[in-house]
Amino acid sequence: MKQAATAQQSVPAGAGRAPRHVAIIMDGNGRWAKKRLLPRAAGHRQGVEAARRIVRAAGELGLEVLTLYAFSSENWRRPATEISDLMGLLRRFIVNDIDELAEAGVRLRIIGDYHALEPDVVAMIDSAMARTAGNSKTTLVIALNYGAQQELVRAVRSLAADALAGKIDPLAIDTGDIDARLDTCDLPPLDLLIRTSGEKRLSNFLLWQAAYAELLFVDTLWPDFDRDALAEAIAHFGQRERRFGGL
Ligand code: FPP
Repeated sequence: MKQAATAQQSVPAGAGRAPRHVAIIMDGNGRWAKKRLLPRAAGHRQGVEAARRIVRAAGELGLEVLTLYAFSSENWRRPATEISDLMGLLRRFIVNDIDELAEAGVRLRIIGDYHALEPDVVAMIDSAMARTAGNSKTTLVIALNYGAQQELVRAVRSLAADALAGKIDPLAIDTGDIDARLDTCDLPPLDLLIRTSGEKRLSNFLLWQAAYAELLFVDTLWPDFDRDALAEAIAHFGQRERRFGGL
């Protein structure tokens, strides 16, 4: 049987290996605000501060890719005011931080169907991505209007279209063909997925890519997550034994 294109080499136990690609479900902004009797928007503002800190820390700690779940395809169910607050924060993040990101060698990438966002946000994102496209130190991936099931549906449709056009033999489709049609096709495999705030769910995030990722659930609310917490998560990863289905 042919080997799946995504199969990875096993590494020895406790190899102290550093993750190349870390993804974070940034959860707990609302609870952080509630504990302080503040509006949810204040929690999201602090959430952006935490995201800034963690992007800097990711570069310092040598991560190749940091993927942040900023807005899911299910977040449209939130009240219009909260959606508008989140989009405002995203606009400000891009406007205020793009210079620093560009100078720090960060390449910006988006996963998810971000073209469904407001046209001015789409234009800002496209321009930020174009400006940082040549950077190679760290890739910051922001998941916007992202849902893993929707991403897989897009991949399946593309495969079906290629099969109908006779470009691909349906019976020869393998995991590599699916990988190649995901939003993450040009990124290294996901090593570590962190969720803050004590919830233990994947919430439609990177379902395919997480197949062999280490999962780490921490109780810290996202606005309190800092460089030390990321360093601890990375150290924790180095102690885990990854066997990728082998012994
Ligand atoms: C979850 O907290 C957080 C979100 C839905 C949005 C996360 C967005 C940011 C941190 C800001 C955008 C980031 C960038 C990079 C611009 P929650 O509201 O679900 O918290 P709760 O579960 O405590 O209510």
